[in-house]
Amino acid sequence: MSNVVSLKSHDEVGLVTIDSPPVNALSAAVRGGILDCVQQAIADPTIRAIVLTCSGRTFIAGADITEFGKPPKQPGLDEVLAALESSPKPTVAAIHGTALGGGLEVALACHFRVADKNAKLGLPEVKLGLLPGAGGTQRLPRAVGPELAVKMIVSGNPIGSQEALRSGLIEEVVEEASAGGETFARKLLAEKRAIRRLRDDDTKLAAARADRSIFTTAVAATTKKIRGLEAPLAAADAIGYAIDLPFDEGLKKEREIFLRLMSSDQSKAQRYAFFAEREAAKIPGVPNGIQPRLVERVAIIGAGTMGGGIAMSFVNAGIPVTLVETGREQLDRGLDIMRKNYDATAARGGIPADAPEKRMALINGTVGIENIKHADLIVEAVFETMAIKKDVFGQIDQFAKPGAILATNTSFLDINEIAKETKRPQDVLGMHFFSPANVMKLCEVVRAADTAPDVLQAVVSVARKIGKVPVVVGVCDGFVGNRMLMARQRQASQLLFDGALPQQVDAALTKFGMPMGPFAMGDLAGLDIGWRSRKDRGIKSEIEDALCEAGRFGQKTGKGFFRYEEGSRAPLHDPEVEKLIDETLSRLGRKRRVVSDEEIIERTTYSMINEGARILEEGIAARASDIDVVWLYGYGWPIYRGGPMHYADHVGLQRLADRLSYYARESNDASLQPTQLLMELAEQDGKFGARG
Ligand code: 3HC
Ligand code: NAI
Repeated sequence: MSNVVSLKSHDEVGLVTIDSPPVNALSAAVRGGILDCVQQAIADPTIRAIVLTCSGRTFIAGADITEFGKPPKQPGLDEVLAALESSPKPTVAAIHGTALGGGLEVALACHFRVADKNAKLGLPEVKLGLLPGAGGTQRLPRAVGPELAVKMIVSGNPIGSQEALRSGLIEEVVEEASAGGETFARKLLAEKRAIRRLRDDDTKLAAARADRSIFTTAVAATTKKIRGLEAPLAAADAIGYAIDLPFDEGLKKEREIFLRLMSSDQSKAQRYAFFAEREAAKIPGVPNGIQPRLVERVAIIGAGTMGGGIAMSFVNAGIPVTLVETGREQLDRGLDIMRKNYDATAARGGIPADAPEKRMALINGTVGIENIKHADLIVEAVFETMAIKKDVFGQIDQFAKPGAILATNTSFLDINEIAKETKRPQDVLGMHFFSPANVMKLCEVVRAADTAPDVLQAVVSVARKIGKVPVVVGVCDGFVGNRMLMARQRQASQLLFDGALPQQVDAALTKFGMPMGPFAMGDLAGLDIGWRSRKDRGIKSEIEDALCEAGRFGQKTGKGFFRYEEGSRAPLHDPEVEKLIDETLSRLGRKRRVVSDEEIIERTTYSMINEGARILEEGIAARASDIDVVWLYGYGWPIYRGGPMHYADHVGLQRLADRLSYYARESNDASLQPTQLLMELAEQDGKFGARG
């Protein structure tokens, strides 16, 4: 008998329970256990119906991803599904938590499904670069019709119990999964309900078979924003086979595509990213089981761009926020922007109509820093000036209660220096959110020299609670993300001096998969900020300076490296910029040369990877995968390339070192010299990812 799956029979109903923490994934042991128990239940004459349920926090969350890429173990999932589906006795899946991927496919092979009211059901395989590989693309369209199936499978987003009930995916919403499943099974027996095998029920496919545009329109709507990802399109193809082919043939096609995707570079990168994200939550040097400090009440200082967005993130997770400003006017402006933001989301249907009111009610806007005294966590988001930050931290130290966590959202400043302004440096750290803070998922958790382990642990936990992806990093100029961004930016600017144009650089990088090129990004942030700071420091960057002198500050003035039409954020090519660049280069006595797209990608990406290697050498990031998570969630690095360090491993570190040496020589730029770590790894044919 399996020790992860058990069978208990109770008054004619056999209850098959999976108990394989943390998420009841379908490991070989779980598959074997289900198969054994189902076969036993079928053979047991006292059992007339079978309920499949899970203990712990969730129903089966999918195939066991750790088994992917390894030699397959018996029994296969198909054998388990066949046993459940062909059972002569009714089978019922009783769902709580998340029925995802292979988990939902198991449920779809059962004859009936019930779920509790908080359950989520989905086929998220595309997020791992795969498609449902155990009949999901064939059975789900038969359960809910092709339109919703496309929406769920191609986007990978789950639906809740109510929608599952409305669409016919489940039969009932029950109070508690396992007891509800049993009651439902008894009802089936009492009513002598016929078994329903989805494989034999094409009713919901009829409309799309008569008019295929029902399917193609749904696919077009769901694949609009997939940006280079292979899996969503492959998944759509597989659903098409459900419409066009008999069940078994469709299943065969699904299998073929699944195996192809499984060995693709994209899926490997996406699976790597899944584990990298979870690994990032484990803090090196902080012992397991350390009790994090409790964070129930939060205060945020500064209601500007970042303070407002950070406040929204906490409030969205139901955590009340005290928002402190210097004056009523600044406070009202901040609150007004948040309110408008919520109203716009509600108008789009993104949140319920009453949500803006409820969420704003969780914000206590106030003037006067003494109002932070009840907060467990204080996040400072005032102007990026050391003197101001120091002054604010001195005041925080005066009013914060003992044990409160004191965080700064600084982008670049030295947090050790800020911590010195307090008498409790052990409570100080960075929480570096990204703009717009209510949308972007990354939070760099910056560990300062004295930050206490329970502070770090608390901040990582609360960041996850508000839906962020926390990555612990060390103190340095720009931390991990912005420091690498600066290295890239230096090369992007240099490419203009060599002969590339902003639109060429941006196009090469967006083709590579970045959501935005470096010059459109500059226009968005505002070119005047860097210009003023360069003037203060007596530094020149001739092309950008020329743009700013011509009043081209970026999106805010309707023109920068690109031009922008009224009310639009789309960067448009502007011949005026080309002229300005040409004039600047001839003034400097430089000639434009042809710069290839390959050179653009290599110089911009390899330079930031080299900086990433330096960050690893210095211990600012503990793992290469942490750097990847920063870039995936803070800057939109294409997930199918896994992150810059994973990409480097894929390209090969020897090649990277060779190309960097070449560019360092050609452009006489010492910053491009491969770092010691990169050289060593290249020599040993090593990988960043293998450094642990
Ligand atoms: N296989 C193996 N391990 C898994 C796993 C899976 N499918 N899902 C989660 N885990 C592990 C995580 O790695 C983590 O391990 P760790 O504690 O050692 O880091 C642990 O379970 C807990 O996971 P989370 O930290 O993510 O826990 P949450 O409670 O935040 O989230 C979840 C739970 C929503 C289930 C989330 O883990 C998740 O989305 N999992 C992946 C679901 C998925 O993609 N399923 C499809 C798999 S592919 C498939 O089924 C193919 C099939 O069609 C043939
Ligand atoms: P902002 O200028 O929009 O807002 C700053 C706010 O702080 C203003 O509303 C100001 O009135 C308020 N303020 C100033 N001194 C104060 C005090 N003593 N007490 C209370 N409030 C005070 O600036 P923004 O963009 O929100 O930046 C804030 C911090 O976040 C900076 O450290 C910045 O580097 C960092 N950051 C900014 C990002 C961005 O993209 N804007 C991204 C990530 C971090």
